[in-house]
Amino acid sequence: MTTLASAPVTDTMLGVYRKPPMEFVRGAGVELFDADGKAYLDFVAGIAVNALGYGDAGLERTIRDAMEGSLIHTSNLYRTQPSERLAERLVATSFADRVFFCNSGAEANEGAFKIARRWGRAKGGAAKHEIISLRGGFHGRLMGTLAATDRPQYRAPFRPLAGGIAIAERDLDELDATLNPETVTAVIAEPVQGEGGVRVLEPKFLQGLRTLTRERGILLILDEIQCGYGRTGKFWAYEHADITPDLLTTAKPMAGGFPMGAILMTREVGDTMQAGDHGTTFGGGPFISAVALHVIDRLSDPAMLKHVRERGAQLKKGLDAIAKANSKVRAVRGTGLMWGVDVTEPAKDIVGRALDLGFLICSAGEHTLRLVPPLVVSKADVERGLTLLRQAIA
Ligand SMILES: Cc1ncc(COP(=O)(O)O)c(C=O)c1O
Repeated sequence: MTTLASAPVTDTMLGVYRKPPMEFVRGAGVELFDADGKAYLDFVAGIAVNALGYGDAGLERTIRDAMEGSLIHTSNLYRTQPSERLAERLVATSFADRVFFCNSGAEANEGAFKIARRWGRAKGGAAKHEIISLRGGFHGRLMGTLAATDRPQYRAPFRPLAGGIAIAERDLDELDATLNPETVTAVIAEPVQGEGGVRVLEPKFLQGLRTLTRERGILLILDEIQCGYGRTGKFWAYEHADITPDLLTTAKPMAGGFPMGAILMTREVGDTMQAGDHGTTFGGGPFISAVALHVIDRLSDPAMLKHVRERGAQLKKGLDAIAKANSKVRAVRGTGLMWGVDVTEPAKDIVGRALDLGFLICSAGEHTLRLVPPLVVSKADVERGLTLLRQAIA
């Protein structure tokens, strides 16, 4: 069996990832191929990034076209059309009036924290600066986002973490007691917690959180870095709860595998930020924005969202059947094409056996398998994935 714990790491790459020994050289559709030509059905999708799979003709054409004029990067000191058009597109598909582009999920959340602090200071003075995240939340591994991330093993070696950021239980009564409008400027939540075990925050909880934050003059930041952009079967996950946030962060699938993130916000929040308050060298360049314009068109297409809901329902049915038939499966959770399977065995052992079978899945915690296939996954791909999962768990 391929065990990740014994996997060799190269001498030159920082050893922060344990990688299996094979190397990927090519992708096609929902499959990756290693250097020996072995195919792997990919239900990891670059950790919920490659929504269009591999070798997508429209994406590849867009990338080639985006090279015309050789405008890859100009910096944010100057105007370019693609980024402005992408911002307009994001505003048109969401609650937001203003957009800031950056380069990753953690960077989007760090920026959202700064904006929330700026807004809090404008509304309630320096004391109104605290940011509250939720039990099981994952918001990134930079200093601010690490303080908002509920993973003791990620946090412990890097203390002291950034101050003014605390974690609260996913419980409205506790939040009612915690959310002091004098000191708290924002709450951040993933509508579907990804790394924390694929936990869907119920619409009732999100509605309660929205009411509580709105009544107290506290911002609600939704982190849709993993669950947004169509993965739940609606373009934004917050649409399921029929609420709107004050800020939203997005990243993973935005630019078809190129690194991009964005912070979306209301006008009222955005208006507290002044020239010079925040910035980035690369964020929202003309090349990456042109690629992202294609991705947003494809993933917001109602036919694509319907496809995600249908394939999601198929996956749920198959996972429920596996859970019923196998006592090694404790629970199945998720929505759309984002699923977690709680298993009695260490998740990494099943991930290793799946790899040997030519099936890529990852974990979300010690005992949870995570399945986040490309959104273009076919009915036959889902069936094949379920068969391989059954074999890997057995
Ligand atoms: C919900 C969520 N927020 C933030 C991040 C951090 O994103 P990045 O790895 O691009 O910094 C992730 C990454 O997995 C995520 O799933």
